[in-house]
Amino acid sequence: MIGVLFVCLGNICRSPAAEGAFKRLVERDGLQDKFFIDSAGTIDRHQGELPDSRMRTRAKERGLNLSSRSRPLVDEDFDKFDYIIVMDKANHRDVCKRDAKGHYKEKVRLMMEFAPDSSLQEVPDPYFGGIEGFNQVLDMVESAGEGLLKSIKQQKALGI
Ligand code: 4NP
Repeated sequence: MIGVLFVCLGNICRSPAAEGAFKRLVERDGLQDKFFIDSAGTIDRHQGELPDSRMRTRAKERGLNLSSRSRPLVDEDFDKFDYIIVMDKANHRDVCKRDAKGHYKEKVRLMMEFAPDSSLQEVPDPYFGGIEGFNQVLDMVESAGEGLLKSIKQQKALGI
């Protein structure tokens, strides 16, 4: 099994969207038995909450039902997951701070690394903005999700 964890700040906007979009891609390719996929936040302020209603509405328009509950990142996640995919550089810094010895640093990657056609390096936080920000996040995580799945398939084909 391959574990993929998506991480943002609050785990109510970007990472649940990335989780939902990636799950749909994995199911499309019939690979759901090979993956476990989850998301988490670097803060616990929204623990137990559903994704932000603005994100759920925009996702539903694309046929994505986002229903995971917010939870904070925990130390066990570093061992449990093979890929820890963060949305922005602040997330990267916050996640790496928890891995003080750098044992897991190869696992922690920026989502937009997997969207080479985009000039953006970070998935912007839509929380304090307008509706368009949520659509932009969905566009970004859907296309980067394709790149991530392709990259994992290539790595697995190489036996890594
Ligand atoms: P997310 O968005 O990191 O994409 O889930 C945010 C959610 C909550 C807050 C900030 C960003 N907040 O400040 O509570």
